[in-house]
Amino acid sequence: MALNIIILAAGQGSRMKSALPKVLQPLAGKPLLGHVIDAARQLSCERLHIVYGYGGAQVLQALDRPFIHWVEQVEQKGTGHAVGLALESIDDGADVLVLYGDVPLIQPDTLSTFVRQTDSLGVLTAVLKDPQGYGRILRNAAGQISGIVEQCDACDAEKQIDEINTGIMAGKADVLKRLLGQVGKGNNQGEIYLTDIIALAQQQGIQVDALQVTAELEITGVNDKKQLASLERAKQAMIADQLMQQGVTLYDPARLDVRGELVCGKDVVIDVNCVVEGKVELMDGVVVGPNVCLKDCSIGKNARVKANSVIEGVVTGSNVIIGPFARLRPGTRLSDDVHIGNFVEVKNSSVGQQSKINHLSYVGDSEVGARVNIGAGTITCNYDGVNKHKTTIGDNAFIGSGTELIAPLTVGEGATVGAGSTLTKDVPANELTIERGQQKNISGWKRPAKKPSKESSDT
Ligand code: UD1
Ligand code: MG
Repeated sequence: MALNIIILAAGQGSRMKSALPKVLQPLAGKPLLGHVIDAARQLSCERLHIVYGYGGAQVLQALDRPFIHWVEQVEQKGTGHAVGLALESIDDGADVLVLYGDVPLIQPDTLSTFVRQTDSLGVLTAVLKDPQGYGRILRNAAGQISGIVEQCDACDAEKQIDEINTGIMAGKADVLKRLLGQVGKGNNQGEIYLTDIIALAQQQGIQVDALQVTAELEITGVNDKKQLASLERAKQAMIADQLMQQGVTLYDPARLDVRGELVCGKDVVIDVNCVVEGKVELMDGVVVGPNVCLKDCSIGKNARVKANSVIEGVVTGSNVIIGPFARLRPGTRLSDDVHIGNFVEVKNSSVGQQSKINHLSYVGDSEVGARVNIGAGTITCNYDGVNKHKTTIGDNAFIGSGTELIAPLTVGEGATVGAGSTLTKDVPANELTIERGQQKNISGWKRPAKKPSKESSDT
């Protein structure tokens, strides 16, 4: 039968104490709801319905995809109310799976087993060492599920129960519709609880199947920043495990943060405290030093990225050396064997093979040829206060230290620029260009002497 998946994502998440809706809080760089959508997409699902409400415009903006059917829940009257709204556009004969937007690490395999094992109505449960905060599973003398009681509605004896409701349920659409129609608001939160359908089903002789999962992380719900942080650590540990299984050397798997997608070749080494965001590709043999931030970049074979470098929107060739303390900004393309040294900033520029920019320089909106040496403290003055201009430096050029190249400007191939020049005109190829005041040596000049202080002159 056709499977319809409903994801509940309308709640504010007041326990987060944040202006950002709970389902958009990031886990490993992706909104909580994004993780659930990705898991749902891996099942063969006819239609994906998401119930949204709190911070609706923000949620739609962050996650709108053509395959999603958005169902607005204007007032958040509870999980049962939310499911009821989504069911309005689902055929009676359909199979339904209900997921929660705040249970992000659920695995597709677990879900397909659960759906397969569910007949009329099913609930996914787990036994937890610390069941605090979750709805508890009530069972009768025969061991059958007889209901679910929320933490805030539970008596002391019920709070001792360690089997919890993961929130994930499945069932036939007509059964869910019928039971939800009978649910009231008689609880401490005045909400329509989805969980109440379990007791109703039991009373009406409808079989409730329960699948117990053992992997606790999969079903952990995120309600506050503390839970978010602990799930983040767990997710990071999973990512680090996968990387090490693929052969990546991590000096300390607990000190790597991947908030996106990291693809590594063979023999990649990553030192401590690196942060990866967006899509990052490290080719074979790349060595990343400590405290490096990498965002949306591709680093070529055998490159070395030394400590404390910040790299974003960059593509490099092989054998490049970057840093320590380099900042490479979007639009930077480095060819093979390029060296970028300490306190060098490069933006929207290409640097040709074997060129070196080793110390304290800014290169922006530039095209630097091959085998160019850019001396310490060189600046491409690309901005006139209104517009950005381009600097072009030909192959084999040598730019002396402390040079300012006021763009637009072209330095010819093989040109040599004397240190300290401030260039406003194009530089011819293969010549020496110096733009610099004449040096004066003033003989007999004396340094000012220190005046005696008042106190010392008094005594
Ligand atoms: C819920 C379950 C609890 C279970 C726990 C698992 C109920 C009544 N309780 O509690 O048994 O142990 O999840 O994590 O179902 N939502 C809406 N509309 C609403 C209310 C909530 O879409 O009107 C969404 C929220 O955005 C969230 C999900 O439903 O994604 C769960 O809501 P939440 O308030 O977090 O419920 P819990 O207290 O965690
Ligand atoms: Mg919750």
